[in-house]
Amino acid sequence: MELKCLSLLLASVTGYVAARSLPIGELESRLLLSKAPSGGDVSPVKLYPAYNFSVPIDHIHNETRYEPHSDDFFNIRYWFDATYYKPGGPVLVLCGGEDTGDDRLPYLQKGIINQLAKATNGLGVVLEHRYYGESFPVPNLSVENLRFLTTDQSLADTTYFANNIVFPGLEHLNLTASNAPYIAYGGSYAGAYVAFLRKLYPDTWFGAISSSGVSEAQWDYREYLDPIAQFGPQPCIELTQTLTHAMDNIIFHNHSYVPELKALFNLQGLKYDDDFMNALSYGISYWQDRNWDPAVNDLDFHNYCTNLSSSTIKYPHYVSHKATAEDLISAGGYGEKAVSLAPHLLNWAAWMNYTQIQPILEAGYTESQYFSLRNETFYKLDDITQTWRSWPYQYCTQWGFLQVGANVLKNGLPLISRTQTLEYGSTICREAFGIMKPAQTEQINKYGGFKISYPRLAQIGGQADPWRPVTPLADPYLNTPSTLNEPRILIEGAVHHWDENGLFPNETTCELPPLPVKKAQEQEVKFVVAWLKEYADVAHTELH
Ligand SMILES: *[C@@H]1O[C@H](CO)[C@@H](O)[C@H](O)[C@H]1NC(C)=O
Ligand SMILES: *[C@@H]1O[C@H](CO)[C@@H](O)[C@H](O)[C@H]1NC(C)=O
Ligand SMILES: *[C@@H]1O[C@H](CO)[C@@H](O)[C@H](O)[C@H]1NC(C)=O
Ligand SMILES: *[C@@H]1O[C@H](CO)[C@@H](O)[C@H](O)[C@H]1NC(C)=O
Ligand SMILES: *[C@@H]1O[C@H](CO)[C@@H](O)[C@H](O)[C@H]1NC(C)=O
Ligand SMILES: *[C@@H]1O[C@H](CO)[C@@H](O)[C@H](O)[C@H]1NC(C)=O
Ligand SMILES: *[C@@H]1O[C@H](CO)[C@@H](O)[C@H](O)[C@H]1NC(C)=O
Ligand SMILES: *[C@@H]1O[C@H](CO)[C@@H](O)[C@H](O)[C@H]1NC(C)=O
Ligand SMILES: *[C@@H]1O[C@H](CO)[C@@H](O)[C@H](O)[C@H]1NC(C)=O
Repeated sequence: MELKCLSLLLASVTGYVAARSLPIGELESRLLLSKAPSGGDVSPVKLYPAYNFSVPIDHIHNETRYEPHSDDFFNIRYWFDATYYKPGGPVLVLCGGEDTGDDRLPYLQKGIINQLAKATNGLGVVLEHRYYGESFPVPNLSVENLRFLTTDQSLADTTYFANNIVFPGLEHLNLTASNAPYIAYGGSYAGAYVAFLRKLYPDTWFGAISSSGVSEAQWDYREYLDPIAQFGPQPCIELTQTLTHAMDNIIFHNHSYVPELKALFNLQGLKYDDDFMNALSYGISYWQDRNWDPAVNDLDFHNYCTNLSSSTIKYPHYVSHKATAEDLISAGGYGEKAVSLAPHLLNWAAWMNYTQIQPILEAGYTESQYFSLRNETFYKLDDITQTWRSWPYQYCTQWGFLQVGANVLKNGLPLISRTQTLEYGSTICREAFGIMKPAQTEQINKYGGFKISYPRLAQIGGQADPWRPVTPLADPYLNTPSTLNEPRILIEGAVHHWDENGLFPNETTCELPPLPVKKAQEQEVKFVVAWLKEYADVAHTELH
C-alpha cells in the first residue's frame, strides 16, 4: 500500500525570516497584503476569535538597556481551539514569531498543532509575539520605544502566559503550566525561540519542538545560499552563477556598460548598482518559499529557473535585444560564450520585467521607491502602523543573518552578486535605527547556538532549507544521535519548516503530504505522546 504512495514530490513552507535584504517597497507592501486562506476552506480567522492577554511590558528590571523601565502591562493576542481537549491533555502553544499571529491560524485548523491536539486530547493555542500583529506595548515605534523588543522579553511574555492564562469559556479548568503539560512549537525564528523557552523556563515548558530553528545567530550569513546551490536544479544554479559573475564584472571592471545592463532589465531608474543586483537575486531567493502544500506553494522559483534555463528566447519582444545581450556578456568577460548565454540572459531579463518589475510600476511605484534599500525619509517613519520596523530591529540588534554574496561552495562562484555586502545589507540598521555596529549575536548564542540541547527538546529540519546551516541540524552536527528524549528529524528534500503545514483528511492524496513530511509528522505525534506519558507516570515536579 505504502509503495503505491511513494512520492516524487518534494516541496516547502513559507518562511517569514526574510530571504534577502528587503527593499522598501516590499517592507511597505507587506503591510497591505493579507494572505488568502487556502482553497475553499473556512477561513481560520472566522473560525477562531482573537483574545487578549495582559502581560508586563518589562520583565527584566536589572538590565540598563531597558531603561527607562516600565511597570505597565499590555495586551498580547492569542487564539485557541479546545475542540479536541480532554482533561489531562496538554496545552500546545504555537509561538507566532516575527509575523502577525493570524497568519499562523491554518496550523491550528489543519497543521501540526491540529494533528498533535487530535492525538493527545490537547488544547491548541497560537500566541502572538510582542511588536507583531496587534501586540504592541508602545504607542509608536521610535527607536527608544523599540527597546522592549528583545527575544528575552518576549520569551518572558510567553512564559507568563503559560503560568497565568485562564481560557475564556474554560474557567472551570485550571490550565496553567503548574496544572497541565505545556508543549511549545515554533518554526524558523520561532523554532529557535521555543528551544530557548524550554531551556530557560523548564519548569513551565514540559517540552518543545523546534522546526528549522535558527538558534545560531550570525551577522554574516553567506551560507544561506549554499543549500540552494547544492539542492537546486543545476543548470539554473550554474547559469545564475555565470551570469551574475558577468554582471558583477561589468559593475566592477567595465562600468560604462552598466546603464545598458540596467535598461535591459527595465531597471534603468535604479541609481545604485547594489540595489539593482539585489533585485536580480529575487528569482533564486524564491527557493525558500516553495512548499509541498499547493495552497501556499510559491511557483516563482520554478518559473524563474525554467525561464533562465531555456536556451531559446521565450519572449518575442526580446529577440530585438539579442545583440545588446551578447555585447553585455562580452563586456562581462564571457565573450567566447556570448552567443550561447545571450538567450538565458534575455529570458532572465524578460521574466524579471514581466513578473517582478512591470507589476510594481503599474501599481504606481518608481523603481527606486520599490527596489531600493535606501530612503532616509521612509526609514524615519515610526508611527505605530510602520510594523515593518520590528523584524529589522531584531536582526540589527541581536540576530543578524545578512545574506552576503561571497560563498563559493560550488563552481567557485557565488550565487548572488558580490555587491551584496554586509555594509549594504545593514543599510536599514543605520538609516532606520542609527545602529552602526554588527548585531550582538552573543546575546542569542549564549543559549547554546548549534549545540542547544535539553531533555524533551526536538529538532526538526529540512534537508534543502537555506536556513539549515544556522540550525542544530547543520552539516557538522548532523551525526548527533536522535533519541526519544531529544529527537532530531531531517526531512528529505524539504525547505523551511515543512512539518508545520497540514491538510484536511479530505484533501490528502498519495502524493500529498509527501512521504518524508508525513513521516516526520507521525514521528512528532509519537514522541509527544511518549513525553506526555512521562508526565502522567511521574509526579511532573520531579522531572524538571
Ligand atoms: C485587545 O486589546 C486591544 C488594545 O490593546 C484592543 O484594541 C482590542 O480591541 C482588544 N481585543 C479584544 C478582542 O478584546
Ligand atoms: C538579572 O536577573 C536575572 C534573574 O535573577 C539573572 O539571571 C541575571 O544574571 C541578571 N542580569 C544582570 C545583568 O544582572
Ligand atoms: C512616541 O511615543 C512616546 C511615548 O512612548 C512619546 O513620548 C513620543 O512623543 C511619541 N512620538 C511621536 C512622534 O509621537
Ligand atoms: C491554578 O493552579 C495554580 C497552582 O496549582 C494556582 O496557583 C492558580 O491560582 C490556579 N489558577 C486559578 C485561576 O485558579
Ligand atoms: C518591459 O515590459 C514593458 C511592458 O511590457 C515593455 O514596454 C518594455 O519594453 C520591456 N522592457 C524591455 C527592456 O524590453
Ligand atoms: C516563465 O515564467 C512565466 C511567468 O512566471 C511562467 O508562466 C512560465 O511558465 C515560465 N516558464 C517558461 C518555460 O516559460
Ligand atoms: C570590457 O568590455 C570590452 C568590450 O566587450 C572587453 O573587450 C573588455 O575585455 C572588457 N574589460 C574587462 C576588464 O573585462
Ligand atoms: C522615500 O520614501 C517616501 C516615503 O515613503 C516616498 O514618498 C518617496 O517617494 C521615497 N523616495 C524615493 C526616492 O524612493
Ligand atoms: C474538507 O474538510 C474540511 C474540514 O472538515 C471542510 O471544511 C471542507 O469543506 C471539506 N472540503 C470538501 C471539498 O469537502
